[in-house]
Amino acid sequence: MNKAKLLKVVNPVVSVLFILQVLTILALLFLGGVLDADNFIAIHKGIGLTLVIFSGVHIYLNWSWIKTNMFPKRKG
Ligand code: HEM
Repeated sequence: MNKAKLLKVVNPVVSVLFILQVLTILALLFLGGVLDADNFIAIHKGIGLTLVIFSGVHIYLNWSWIKTNMFPKRKG
């Protein structure tokens, strides 16, 4: 699978994980009294670690774009 095809899988995974990560914290903030806070912290940690790994893969797959656009080489 080439990089462009892999990104079509990795990008939606990163998006969904990010949304879940925010939702676990919102659930903790607003439903903390009803739900077991320890469980939500554990889920937040688990999703967070997965998100860090997938974000790393996302950056790796986009590295040539990042190099070209963020750190352009000066001419001359
Ligand atoms: C890569 C993404 C993330 C990672 C790895 C991560 C990891 C963590 C960890 C390890 C904790 C400490 C849990 C503990 O008390 O033992 C924490 C707490 C927290 N995180 Fe995240 N997090 C991430 C993203 C986010 C995002 C996107 C938000 C906000 C929308 C957020 C909001 C919070 C808040 C408010 C707490 C404090 C919860 C509490 O103890 O009451 N985090 N996070």
